[in-house]
Amino acid sequence: MTHIPKQLAGERAAQYVEDDMIVGLGTGSTAFFTIQKLGQRIAQGLKIKGIPTSEQSRQQALAENIPLIDFDQTTHLDLTIDGADEIDPQFNLTKGGGGALLREKIVAQNSAIEIIVVDPSKWVKHLGAYPLPVEVVPFGWQATLKHIAQLGCKPKLRLLSNAPILTDNGNYILDCDFKTITDPPTTEKTINAICGVVECGLFTNLAHRVIIGHSDGTVEEKVL
Ligand code: 5RP
Repeated sequence: MTHIPKQLAGERAAQYVEDDMIVGLGTGSTAFFTIQKLGQRIAQGLKIKGIPTSEQSRQQALAENIPLIDFDQTTHLDLTIDGADEIDPQFNLTKGGGGALLREKIVAQNSAIEIIVVDPSKWVKHLGAYPLPVEVVPFGWQATLKHIAQLGCKPKLRLLSNAPILTDNGNYILDCDFKTITDPPTTEKTINAICGVVECGLFTNLAHRVIIGHSDGTVEEKVL
C-alpha cells in the first residue's frame, strides 16, 4: 500500500483538535490534509472555530464548512497546525515557500501550541539549503535586497510569468540563498531589523511538536 507522508502527518495532527478550540489553519500541501480532516470531523459534530493563515486556506476552509473568525474576535488561539520548508533539531523553521509566512507567523505567535506537519525531506541538520523567503514592501525592494545580500546570501525576487508575485498582504517575496544558517535566531532578528523587510520566514521558538509522516505508513512525533 502506498502512503502519502504529508497526508499521514497532516491527518495525525488533526487528532489534537478538540471541541471549542480556536484553531490556526496552516498553508500548503501538508496543512491541506489537516484542513480536509477537520472538515470531515466537523461534519461528524466537532465544534471549532478556525483562523486561516492565507487566502488559499480560507477558501479551502470555507469549502469544508469550517467556521472562521478573525483577530477582531480573539487574539488567542489554542492550537495551530502548519507546514514548514525546513526544520532543524532545535525546532527552528524556514517557512514561506507558499508565500504565507507573515500571516503564518502572526497566527503562530498567538497560538498556545504550534504543531508542524512535514514529510521527512523537511527534517535537516541545519537550515539554509532551502532559500529563506523574506517578505518585503514593494517600494525600494531593490535597496532592501542589497541590504539583505550584505548578510552573505543571494536574494532573488520571486516571480510568476516575469512579474513579482504579490503576497496576500500586497508585498513581494525575496528568496534568499544562504546555503547554511548557523544561528537562526540572530539571522531572524538581523533581517527583520532592515527597513523594508516586513517579516522573514525564520520561525524560532514557536514550534512545540513536529509530526513527520513516512512512506512506510509510520508517523513520528517529536517534542522538544
Ligand atoms: C507556506 C508555508 C508552507 O507551510 C511550507 O511552504 C510547506 O509547504 P508544503 O506543506 O506544501 O510542503 O510556509 O507559506
